[in-house]
Amino acid sequence: MCGIIGYIGKKNAIQILINGLHREIYRGYDSSGIVVFGKNEPICIKAVGKIENLEKKLNSQSIEGNLGLGHCRWATHGEVTEANAHPHFDCQKNIFLVHNGIIENYKELKKKLEKEGHQFNSDTDTEVLTHLVEKYFQGNLEEAVRKALREVRGTYGIAVISKKDPQKIVAAKLSSPLILGINKDEFLIASDPSAIITHTRQVINLDDNEIAVLKPDNFFILREKPLTQIEWTPGDEKKGGYPHFMLKEIMEEPEAIENAIKGRLMIEEGSVKLGGFDEIQERLRKINKLILVACGTASYSARIGKYMLEEYAGIPTEVDVGSEFRYRKPIVDKNTAVIFISQSGETADTLASLQEMKKKEILTLGVTNVVGSTQARETNAGVYTRSGSEIAVASSKAFIGQLATLAMLTVYLGRQRDMALIMGKRIVSELSGLPDIAKEVLKSASEIKELAEKYKDFKNFWFIGRKYNSPIASEGALKLKELSYLHAEGIGGGELKHGHLALIDESFPTIAICPSDSVYEKMVSNIEEIKARKGPVIALATKNNKEIKNLVDDVIYIPKTLEMLTPILATIPLHLFSYYMAVLLKNDVDKPRNLAKSVTVE
Ligand code: AGP
Ligand code: GLU
Repeated sequence: MCGIIGYIGKKNAIQILINGLHREIYRGYDSSGIVVFGKNEPICIKAVGKIENLEKKLNSQSIEGNLGLGHCRWATHGEVTEANAHPHFDCQKNIFLVHNGIIENYKELKKKLEKEGHQFNSDTDTEVLTHLVEKYFQGNLEEAVRKALREVRGTYGIAVISKKDPQKIVAAKLSSPLILGINKDEFLIASDPSAIITHTRQVINLDDNEIAVLKPDNFFILREKPLTQIEWTPGDEKKGGYPHFMLKEIMEEPEAIENAIKGRLMIEEGSVKLGGFDEIQERLRKINKLILVACGTASYSARIGKYMLEEYAGIPTEVDVGSEFRYRKPIVDKNTAVIFISQSGETADTLASLQEMKKKEILTLGVTNVVGSTQARETNAGVYTRSGSEIAVASSKAFIGQLATLAMLTVYLGRQRDMALIMGKRIVSELSGLPDIAKEVLKSASEIKELAEKYKDFKNFWFIGRKYNSPIASEGALKLKELSYLHAEGIGGGELKHGHLALIDESFPTIAICPSDSVYEKMVSNIEEIKARKGPVIALATKNNKEIKNLVDDVIYIPKTLEMLTPILATIPLHLFSYYMAVLLKNDVDKPRNLAKSVTVE
């Protein structure tokens, strides 16, 4: 997980840098390097492998200088080579830079910089930062860094020095930890307090979008208000050729999975990279209780997240809707994390619950779709689902994005705990193929449209499912209610016999979500209970399940996937069924009566 160390002061920097790196290598690395500014030209030395290889190279030279940077690299982009090790430098060898994190848009930046004549020395994403700073450098280093970072998307902790703006370290941070060490007549910058503590206990943790400027006798911090990007362009507002935003956004559900997982899956490591958690990963290791808080459709993804997190991350997990949680007295402590899930990031009940937890200084995390929303800004850390703008009032692709994100969060937390490499690999590789499988499900849209026509005269529907698909029964029912205004209820299949069966007769169809999973046989029993009372049944089953055809009236098939990911596939046909039913009933599909896209009032 790499590390940065920087020093400016009255002492010779080289040994301070080496000692600092030794204290950071526990984080995992594959190469290292240092740069020291002295009376002569900067000395920049790098080595692959153990830090001792770097020391061997240094020992053969006498390196004098009071300013320098060190880095141990954990490669993400570019092989493990000396050229790819940090520090990186610009064309004129004026700017030297070290970086923790990932520059997600480095490819487009590199292409543009090469067109402008910049010569690159490495295959890393990091090096684009160095040339961007060079591009904007007109004598003031922090000004150049500020302008450069405005073009960057991704995560970073960086430290930068320049020959032409000497006796200065500029450091900047976004989602990758950086800490300042403040001492009399000397300053340090590091990724980890252990690299600083032997010099000083006076530290400042840099916050996101802050830029620190360290000089031999002084330091100051600039706060860069991030340019929050409006994610959609006016063109997005159009329906993309679809009759309704609702259908467009259902058809975008495979893309919602793709966008959620892009750049975050590490298949070989059987893990995921969630840049927004880099800074709190050590605190997350200590969490022994989770509470998921959300409203409406988002509360159903929370309920599915509970199954995932308990089964695969082994963390006790509670779920509550915001309107209840805000009035509860939850049992929480410093090892509890509360995760807020919201498409809009503006839902009043969810935000009120968030404020309650902030007052108690409980760790608050967000799973949010809208960039820069209140929830995104108010939580300690979070993950954007990146589902794109959702215009239809009834949520569709954002729900899918939430489920994909919760699956990644499960792997992230699980791999911090007992989840084996093989399990992590299995989940992550299945996730990576899920967008294409979801596209397969969409191909049954015309069959689902015919089903809606067949059942359009019914006035009541049951949705039943178990375990991971019990919340999907609730989501299917809510979507049908929202769009068709018909009465629908979703419950766990096992609950049917505790009174709800009273409603079943030939006028009350049931949609049974019964993939071939660990509770399939139990669902078959529920279906038989219903058929014994002449209730029509539509089964949502796994492809190639021939038996089910003899038990029910109609079948919608979905491809096989991991049990914990089935809810993502099961949701798509239910969203389509509700959409087609609403169109048949001539409702205002994109703006159903009585509903608001974001419920910003209590
Ligand atoms: C979803 O179809 C509904 N419109 C509603 O239940 C929604 O999910 C709920 O209001 C929560 O909204 P949020 O995800 O923006 O917080
Ligand atoms: N992404 C950069 C690289 O691959 C930095 C990696 C790190 O954080 O060490 O060089």
